[in-house]
Amino acid sequence: MSTRLFALQQEHLTHLQRDYTVLLEEHRLDSLAIYSGHANAYFADDQAPAFQTYGHFMHWVPLAGVEHSWLVIRPQKRPQLYLYAPADFWHLPTHLPDEPWVTEFDIHLCTDKVSPALEGHAAIIGDVAQLPTASQQAQLNPVSLMNRLDERRMHKSAYEIACLREANRLAMAGHEAAEAAFLGASGELDIQLAYLAGSRQRESAVPYQNIIGLNDHAGVLHYQHYELSPPKQRHSLLVDAGRRFRGYCADITRTHAGPDAPALFGELVKALHGLKDELVSGVTSGADFVALHEQMHHHLGDILVAHDLFRGSREQAVAEGVTRAFCPHGLGHSLGLQVHDVAGLRQPDGSPAPPPSEHPALRLTRTLERNMVVTIEPGLYFIPMLLEPLRQKSLPINWTLVDHCLPCGGIRIEDNIVVTDHGPDNLTP
Ligand code: GLY
Ligand code: MN
Ligand code: MN
Repeated sequence: MSTRLFALQQEHLTHLQRDYTVLLEEHRLDSLAIYSGHANAYFADDQAPAFQTYGHFMHWVPLAGVEHSWLVIRPQKRPQLYLYAPADFWHLPTHLPDEPWVTEFDIHLCTDKVSPALEGHAAIIGDVAQLPTASQQAQLNPVSLMNRLDERRMHKSAYEIACLREANRLAMAGHEAAEAAFLGASGELDIQLAYLAGSRQRESAVPYQNIIGLNDHAGVLHYQHYELSPPKQRHSLLVDAGRRFRGYCADITRTHAGPDAPALFGELVKALHGLKDELVSGVTSGADFVALHEQMHHHLGDILVAHDLFRGSREQAVAEGVTRAFCPHGLGHSLGLQVHDVAGLRQPDGSPAPPPSEHPALRLTRTLERNMVVTIEPGLYFIPMLLEPLRQKSLPINWTLVDHCLPCGGIRIEDNIVVTDHGPDNLTP
């Protein structure tokens, strides 16, 4: 790991300590305990699903799989890290990396599951069913504090941006391997395995389940299976797949036209790349994300008209809900320690900022500010369930062309962007 990244991390921790001090004093709290969380075994079993450490814990501690551990923050005092490290000959015990950040914490390696005693007025945040006996007076998950901490995560430090950039670099190596596997006529499972190998990760470490959809599966927005055998015809491949680096998530999508796709589909893929670039150029501080999302719909109207899929005007395509049937999801979301990061649907003061009623799937409604990180992911899909109701209306949709494209499923192109005062900084190579 580079010395520069460690220097940035040190600065990140200094700023967290400063900002948490202000927030705790505002909330008249002497101590805050953040629980890492832990995996829960399946019912009547001793096996558990893959686990992900709580985001506010990872905001301080760059260990993505830590369980049964606590972080205690007090104003102007060194953070206390109670790391669960049982003496266990079944598993490799938790150990600390040889990295400079460990000197910023007082670290207690705990062989038992502990709940730290808290001083004075205290709060606990995390997936805690009931207050530990040592802290009966503490507040559990107080809403106003949680909103402020979520808001603090909206703006990324230079360290966090460096981590997100590295996560993108690693994920893109996976996307290149996936594309090569598709060219070699692999099926979904083998494309997934190529992606994991190329991005150097095991499946349990992915920030979200990779979406690897061939043909009409590309039109299932969060398609969740991996067919074992390759299909006879190869119309298309959609890969929406990420990577964590020190907890921080990449979330990238690429779509490829296959040898059996109509020429139109390849042209639409190219048009969606152009649309993604156009929308990325609008990512700058002061931009309204809802307006950017609406801009996506106007451009989708242009694309439908330009490719003869819609024989009316772009305005009609938007007004009649045609573009929404072709793209039912939002333009993007905040990205960080969670793939759909916190606070996207809240104003800076914590009050709700819900999406407009005609765009219920939009996950970010904020005015963009410097050092926010967002995804830009326009899509255009051929989803029978959404197109069917339009067939009953007398709209100038070119159904012959639409039906021609149905076996291709759809297209999504997704990049990860840092907001700056002078435009976008695209993290996706
Ligand atoms: N990978 C899920 C999304 O793009 O939001
Ligand atoms: Mn996304
Ligand atoms: Mn995605």
